[in-house]
Amino acid sequence: MISQPGSLLVVEDDGDVREFLADDLRARGYRTETSGSCGSAIGLLREQSFDVVLCDVHLPDGDGLSVLRWCQERRQRPSVILLTGYGTIENAVEAMRAGADDYLTKPVVDDQLAESLSRVMARRIDGPHMVSVPPVDPSPVGEMLVGRDPRMQQLFELVDTVARTRTTVLIQGESGTGKTLTARSIHDHSDRRDRPFVEVSCGALSETLLESELFGHVAGAFTGAVSDRPGRFRQADGGTLFLDEIDTASPALQVRLLRAIQDREFEPVGGGRTERVDVRLIVATNKDLEGLVREGEFREDLYYRVNVITLTQPPLRGRSIDIPLLVELYRERFANELGRPVADVDPAAMECLCEYHWPGNVRELVNVIERAVVLCRGEVIRLDDLPEAVRREEPRAEAANRLKSALADPERKLIVESLEAHGWNRQQSALSLGINRTTLYKKMKRHGIVAPAH
Ligand SMILES: Nc1ncnc2c1ncn2[C@@H]1O[C@H](COP(=O)(O)OP(=O)(O)O)[C@@H](O)[C@H]1O
Ligand SMILES: [Mg+2]
Repeated sequence: MISQPGSLLVVEDDGDVREFLADDLRARGYRTETSGSCGSAIGLLREQSFDVVLCDVHLPDGDGLSVLRWCQERRQRPSVILLTGYGTIENAVEAMRAGADDYLTKPVVDDQLAESLSRVMARRIDGPHMVSVPPVDPSPVGEMLVGRDPRMQQLFELVDTVARTRTTVLIQGESGTGKTLTARSIHDHSDRRDRPFVEVSCGALSETLLESELFGHVAGAFTGAVSDRPGRFRQADGGTLFLDEIDTASPALQVRLLRAIQDREFEPVGGGRTERVDVRLIVATNKDLEGLVREGEFREDLYYRVNVITLTQPPLRGRSIDIPLLVELYRERFANELGRPVADVDPAAMECLCEYHWPGNVRELVNVIERAVVLCRGEVIRLDDLPEAVRREEPRAEAANRLKSALADPERKLIVESLEAHGWNRQQSALSLGINRTTLYKKMKRHGIVAPAH
């Protein structure tokens, strides 16, 4: 790891936040200067050289992006970490698109700053290949991925932004929501598109097989290993490695992955030479990885390494605006593939498809449409061509939703009251509610409760 401290400039107009950050940084051994405006920051940058500038986006005399642009034009360019407002994804997108080396959302808590700094510093030492991505006009990513829902639109925008970097990406989402497709789409929109896209599902293989699958092995490493064999990391050299179901990686594998990501080097199973590869990593999970970290099931350091940028695939339920679009896409595709003259879906069938709650998400929809195209006797898909479960959905879902919201509302109210009473301290609120902290986190997430911005 990086041990030598560097020199930092903190640009933040809120005096308390500024001093808090500066103290934290000085305590970590960084030489740290502070400034409260764009003007004085640029003044300092002219006089002294800094390794990293930590810069607020909103400043009294302008916007942090102007400091970023100023830095980008220098030959000895400092790395820039932008501090964006709470949960405002537009800012995060803009920050990355403008070429920031990293961004943090305020409030900055726990070790986020230190983690970000070590990432940024590591890249500085690593060499020039990570230096800023020039801003380019966004290109549409909608050729294979369709969606009109605003969350999908946001996702496409992020896909487009991250495709131009080699940042590690974490894709979260329920099974069948399109994680694999998104990973593929990032690769196809990156400048690595002509190099391999290699996919490995961590859940599909036993621990030893998975290690050898990823890192390769030397002859004699284990019974059956008759000759040297390169692993997927090597196969993906110059391209993208997509690790699906990362949550299922064993503790031992997590350690090896951490090292491979951190140092970009690894040894094949059974010894042999250390190998170095240039791989863009995308990982995916259908679990709540942060929750697994809290429960001690997933290494925190690895989590921070993979969670540089997170993309969340929204489930298909509650996205009914996208259903006709997807139905059309796949009706046409299967009609062509299967050579059947199915040209339309009748309104009753479409309504039913829009009402259904799709527990298997888009994957389930794709299967339902394929089946309907096969079963369809004429040119139009009708109610009869849909599976029983889809047709019967409506009354049941409505009843279940009514019950759920009737139960959920008082619970939400209680939790918010308790959090407010304890100044949003989760430990104390959990205690007063008689539940543990993890349960409280889960409930907050389920009810969409977020602490107010400071
Ligand atoms: N937005 C989308 N537009 C078009 N097809 C989609 C979309 N999302 C998912 N699909 C399709 O749904 C199926 C499941 O997607 P996949 O990426 O395998 O999901 P996951 O990896 O999350 O389980 C695939 O056939 C994929 O092509
Ligand atoms: Mg998948």
